[in-house]
Amino acid sequence: MNIAIGCDHGGFALKAIVVDELKQLGHTIVDCGAHAYTPGDDYPDFARAVGAAIQRGDAERGIVVCGSGVGASIAATKMRGIRAAVCHDTYSARQGVEHDDMNVLCLGARIIGDELARELVRAFVSAEFNRAERFQRRLDKVRKIESEER
Ligand code: RB5
Repeated sequence: MNIAIGCDHGGFALKAIVVDELKQLGHTIVDCGAHAYTPGDDYPDFARAVGAAIQRGDAERGIVVCGSGVGASIAATKMRGIRAAVCHDTYSARQGVEHDDMNVLCLGARIIGDELARELVRAFVSAEFNRAERFQRRLDKVRKIESEER
């Protein structure tokens, strides 16, 4: 799978771990930066780049790492077709895809350690959306909110 990855300064070190895990799993990285540690950079720029990669079809899913994961998720969910959430437990990282078709996982590097991040990445990328009627119905309602709000 092509997976877009982005981070700000708060997530810079953990991004390397996430990339390493994804490569070990055989995925292709679409690197949306940051490409260097820059203390004054801003998470919305990288969340937007990851979302745009998905919107263009360059990536099927994305992962954004910032200090808490919160800013990244707020920014990414502003974009059409992007369903992002902070997940710091493997149940949510998996079920967010299965039930909610989450396509961007947001991680907080100041909250979690490297090994949990690897497990979260594995849970996220190995999950598939469950196309049962109730999940599709709920996703359609989410899409309706998006289309009617803008
Ligand atoms: C950056 O210092 C920090 O505010 C950012 O990475 C993130 O935690 C925002 O949610």
